[in-house]
Amino acid sequence: MCHMANTEGSISSVLSEKRMFHPNPEFSESATVKSMSEYERLYHSAEEDPLKYWASIASNFHWFKKWDTVMEWNEPHSKWFVGGETNLCYNAIDVHVNTWRKNKAAIIWEGEEGEQLTLTYLQLHREVSKFANVLKRRGVEKGDRVAIYMGMTPELVIAVLACARIGAVHNVIFGGFSANAVAERINDSHAKMLVTADGAVRRGKTVNLKDVVDEALVETPSIQNVIVHQRTKQDIHFQDGRDHWWHDLMGLASEYCPAESLDSEHPLFILYTSGSTGKPKGILHTTGGYMTHAGNSFKHVFDIKEQDIYWCSADVGWITGHSYIIYGPLINGATVLLYEGAPNYPQWDRFWDMIQRHKVTIFYTAPTAIRAFIRAGDEWVTKHDLSSLRLLGTVGEPINPEAWMWYHKFIGKEKCPIVDTWWQTETGGIMISPLPGATPTKPGTATRPLPGILVDVVHKDGTSCKPNEGGFLVVKHPWPSMLRTIYGDDERYKKTYWSEVDGMYFTGDGARKDEDGYIWIMGRVDDVVNISGHRLGTSEVESALVSHDAVAEAAVVSRPDDLKGNALVAFVTLKEEFEGDQKLRVELRDHVSKEIGPIAKPDDIRWAEALPKTRSGKIMRRLLREMATSKEVKGDMTTLEDFSVLEKLRQEEEKSHEENSK
Ligand code: WT7
Repeated sequence: MCHMANTEGSISSVLSEKRMFHPNPEFSESATVKSMSEYERLYHSAEEDPLKYWASIASNFHWFKKWDTVMEWNEPHSKWFVGGETNLCYNAIDVHVNTWRKNKAAIIWEGEEGEQLTLTYLQLHREVSKFANVLKRRGVEKGDRVAIYMGMTPELVIAVLACARIGAVHNVIFGGFSANAVAERINDSHAKMLVTADGAVRRGKTVNLKDVVDEALVETPSIQNVIVHQRTKQDIHFQDGRDHWWHDLMGLASEYCPAESLDSEHPLFILYTSGSTGKPKGILHTTGGYMTHAGNSFKHVFDIKEQDIYWCSADVGWITGHSYIIYGPLINGATVLLYEGAPNYPQWDRFWDMIQRHKVTIFYTAPTAIRAFIRAGDEWVTKHDLSSLRLLGTVGEPINPEAWMWYHKFIGKEKCPIVDTWWQTETGGIMISPLPGATPTKPGTATRPLPGILVDVVHKDGTSCKPNEGGFLVVKHPWPSMLRTIYGDDERYKKTYWSEVDGMYFTGDGARKDEDGYIWIMGRVDDVVNISGHRLGTSEVESALVSHDAVAEAAVVSRPDDLKGNALVAFVTLKEEFEGDQKLRVELRDHVSKEIGPIAKPDDIRWAEALPKTRSGKIMRRLLREMATSKEVKGDMTTLEDFSVLEKLRQEEEKSHEENSK
């Protein structure tokens, strides 16, 4: 299966994974989509007439005014449900308040110290309506941008939904970002209002959010008002006239605030995502199309049932939190668990303890978290009763097959399907994923696209790759929740997504399609390494390393080499009980050689206590590449989560340099 084609745009695929897991019949019986043949039927009818399919999905939601035209396409700009009017907050809350669900828990919140708060749909409706009135009273109008910078508390969800209710455009800024990053995002979106908190709680400490805000606001002339939620009750600086307490304003607000009837293409939110270089991109999503896909994909991929307790451990500061903590679940009337704090506080079993106590049925997390749990040791898991779980999910990076197997075995007890969901901030919702009652899964692949989503793996010229031949992952037909543009920079939008392959949306990812049509993500195309003329996807070599018993996590990059053009450098984090030495180095090299072939054998192996990651958990291979090449890291580091990681790697690098050359 090892194709080494190397025409332009091809990436050699070397990973071979043969295990396959079928959904258990009990699960399938009550699932939304019950079999592969049902999926195929759905998929093919949607493929034949995508607009008809999307129109039928959109009509499941509440529209104040029905659309005239399903879609208008003016490459590369699409408009969906043109002429229609709706409101996403109305679809997420009001529709339930008019049914028996009004007293169903919408949000069950747990603070890091164990505090709990439950908001029913009716209670959420009241809080959101009040806060919407607060925003209006403070001068926020339809179309204005509102920046939201706070920790994972119910108020964050309330603020987001209140914006949607009145047609203000929310711009959520992850609570871990620095003053510079906050100021940059506020300025780029010209936000008029900032909603924040005095502090946030993280790993038993308080983070001084308001201090960061005060520093940021020196450079943000557009902000007129700041609303401060009192979370930690620490002393903060308060600027009269500009700063207001959340509880003061809420105390005065009326709970009557009808949802605005908004044009389907009315902007819903801007969410910043970092490009590989340069300033972050403000990804713009609009109302009707985003609602349609977020709501529908949640229902199908997570197979949601009334009695489920659904937990997504992401932060609302990322797209995962927007689409699959707030909008997708609430549109479907689900009960969402919202957790404020860290996965290892007070100990490494916090998540498993929470799943046991809340009887969580569906759990959605990231490969980076799974690898951290593997590293911490199985005993944290095995002491808890996880029998309430019925479905697991992952998102954010390719999941290494061995990490998938661990998740399947230790968390899912070999009975829960795993939905490995591929998507992006730009796509707004899940694009490629198993349907848990239908799709047989293979560890390491997001399997097949959802109905209505036409993806392919192509060469640079747009022609399809052969099975198992690596190429560019593209989307060939517009979909309702696609980004509309990069806010304030339409040229960059065209250049980034629509100029790589003619007439297709380019995802930036390398991938291959196997003989069953399953898509295997091989990593970002920017991270592809070229070894002796073969372009290899980093994720495959990393997965081979992770399949060794001693390895918890690995990142592979290349550095220039006189002989081969490039040499492979692997940064490896070992499981707690293993020691990195020369013997293990040799063993790991042989292991990769056996798993993939000698071509992928790392030239250097460097022990890394931890890898540099973005705040959302993605490995920053670019920094590692700089480190492997020049020993110095100069590029943009504003998204790096922990600076000490780089320093430790630098020290390690001195040591391993000698040993690797032995
Ligand atoms: C990039 C998008 C979508 C929410 C979180 C990330 C990678 C995401 C998978 C997956 C392999 C994945 C891709 C993608 N990615 N999910 N299941 N398998 N890779 O959103 O920060 O916009 O990142 O994350 O490289 O392009 P994002």
